[in-house]
Amino acid sequence: MTRATAPGKIILFGEHAVVYGRPAIAVPVIDVRAEATLQRAKTSPGFRVVAPDLQRDYFLAEAGSDDPLSRIIQLTLAHLGQTPPPDVVLQISSTIPLGRGLGSGAAISTAIVRALGQFFERPLSPANISNLVYEVEKFYHGTPSGIDNTVVAFEQPVYFIKGVPLKRIGVGWPFTLVIGDTGVIASTKEVVGDLRRRWQADQEYYEGYFDEIGTIAQQARVMIERGVSDIARLGKLMNENQEILETIGVSAPVLGQLIEAARQGGAAGAKLSGAGWGGNMIALVPSQAEVIASVSQALIAAGAVGVIVTEVK
Ligand code: MEV
Repeated sequence: MTRATAPGKIILFGEHAVVYGRPAIAVPVIDVRAEATLQRAKTSPGFRVVAPDLQRDYFLAEAGSDDPLSRIIQLTLAHLGQTPPPDVVLQISSTIPLGRGLGSGAAISTAIVRALGQFFERPLSPANISNLVYEVEKFYHGTPSGIDNTVVAFEQPVYFIKGVPLKRIGVGWPFTLVIGDTGVIASTKEVVGDLRRRWQADQEYYEGYFDEIGTIAQQARVMIERGVSDIARLGKLMNENQEILETIGVSAPVLGQLIEAARQGGAAGAKLSGAGWGGNMIALVPSQAEVIASVSQALIAAGAVGVIVTEVK
């Protein structure tokens, strides 16, 4: 049996503005993962896909051309020169909440590409994996920046600018984030598409805010690389980024409630992470057990359906 996994991701700074060429910072979340396993088919021939979390069980040959799982499989098989498809069972599972800005789609695709590469004894480089997954991200999201596939495939903190060679970030000093899940599924494609329509109607207005977000991401990068000795300063940048995300219409009351609860509970700063309108928020928290517990409890009390504590290092 061949088994491969891929992590979730969160965007620390710069979502949305990154689609318009500004820098953004994203980190992998290794505490949650997607998994793909491949086994030679024992009974029926064909390439069978079994994904209970997605309520899917089907044969590749029967899938429509608009199916994202089938797309990444077909693309990878073509890349590996493996046609016709082998007789196998591909099992997919994930502990990454779906549709909540944690990169579940990119992680599932990445795990599939890795598993197929290993199966055919042709392990693929992170850059190759990222390029293949990007093709499917386009299908899911319309106009993705490419940040999700990059951070998930490279499994490292990244300072990402669309179309520019990847810069990895060294984290000078580990810091702790508490991720709070609103439980609301939001479609990245819809949020990004809605913002694009408003941007088309008034580009000057939105470009100004994207510039401000880009400046925040640049400042955050310097702080993270030097080592976040004073988390209050990085937290302040998170709060400023959140304020702009609210102004450009991608936040939501449910996110605002969790963000406020985290700040009251002792977080140095908090913001939404990912596309917004739902999904997850992140809180920067001093690395002390009692503050982490207090922020986590505050989030649950404010309605979070799940909390993940993760260390960025
Ligand atoms: C989604 O995780 C992040 C967005 O900036 C979209 C993108 O970068 O493709 C909202």
